[in-house]
Amino acid sequence: MTDPLMPLVMAVETSCDETAVAILRGKNRMLASEVSSQISLHRPYGGVVPEVASRSHLTRLKPLISHALENAGLHIDEIDAFAATTGPGLASSLMIGVSVSKGLALSLRKPYLAVNHLEGHLLSPFFGREEGIVSCIALVVSGGHTMIVEIGEVGKYQVLGHTHDDAAGEAFDKVGKLLQLPYPGGPEIDRLAREGDPSRFDFPRSMMHSGDFNFSFSGLKTAVRYMLPKLQGESMANICASFQEAVVDVLVHKTIGAAQVRNKKRIAVSGGVSCNSRLREKFSRACERKGFELLVADPKLCTDNAAMIAYVAAERFALGQSSPLTEDIDPNLRLV
Ligand code: KG4
Ligand code: ZN
Repeated sequence: MTDPLMPLVMAVETSCDETAVAILRGKNRMLASEVSSQISLHRPYGGVVPEVASRSHLTRLKPLISHALENAGLHIDEIDAFAATTGPGLASSLMIGVSVSKGLALSLRKPYLAVNHLEGHLLSPFFGREEGIVSCIALVVSGGHTMIVEIGEVGKYQVLGHTHDDAAGEAFDKVGKLLQLPYPGGPEIDRLAREGDPSRFDFPRSMMHSGDFNFSFSGLKTAVRYMLPKLQGESMANICASFQEAVVDVLVHKTIGAAQVRNKKRIAVSGGVSCNSRLREKFSRACERKGFELLVADPKLCTDNAAMIAYVAAERFALGQSSPLTEDIDPNLRLV
């Protein structure tokens, strides 16, 4: 049981198309985690429309906060600190969550904490672990980012490599669009690939043996585009499974390579693409074979959510940190 006197942190996440609110007691006790997905709003456009997203955050956020408080059995006065995602993301979306969180902090005279969305993803595999955050190699793989990071401790990160072009999730979504699957393509490809043969087509594994920890996925997407006319009548499941295999092989190979080079015993995988069933399967097999401990969050904590933002805020709050109310959003915020 967590000490009931541990501080209560409320976090708001509105960096893209999910409106989310979470309340944590201390670092590890989740009292509420609400996510209101806008996927159905954006699906007709085949991608996120920024103005539709920000207008929707505006109407959804207040009821979601009330709902989170109700689920946690708390009154807003009891919250000890307010946090929000400050970047990276869509400017008009970030602004909604940050303004609301700052407004609550200001009116209730409580501290405010600005949180980097990427740090939220990065640390999410450690949430709920007795040991807390430990040194490891981390792969953050989402719709906007693909990077390998060496974690020393909270706030001590070194980016070892990143994508030169598309993020892995972006490649999933763009290939999903080419295959005329509903947006977002990632979960659809994952579902269809389960019935397919991953070795049916040999799609390129770009930069697999480049000797560094960088990635490139745009060539793979182009390869699918050029092959499609020749694949008429081929099973969609085989195309999805073969494409997915190419993405997963590179991600697993490079992350394991980084852990070996940097002499780490643990590998943490996070971000929306870490929900992918084949990625999880191949990572756990490779880690078992090579003697690494694998840390992957519950799928609910892999896609965008506010619990991961509250977790980072709680870690920082415990270190005595807070942010000035003058700290602005930064749509291009980097991890380091
Ligand atoms: O972390 P996230 O929710 O948002 C960003 O910060 O980008 O990641 C969303 C990405 C999308 O590209 C989506 O297609 C991908 O994660 N994704 C998946 C799966 N679930 C979500 N990709 C592959 N397989 C999945 N099961
Ligand atoms: Zn994200």
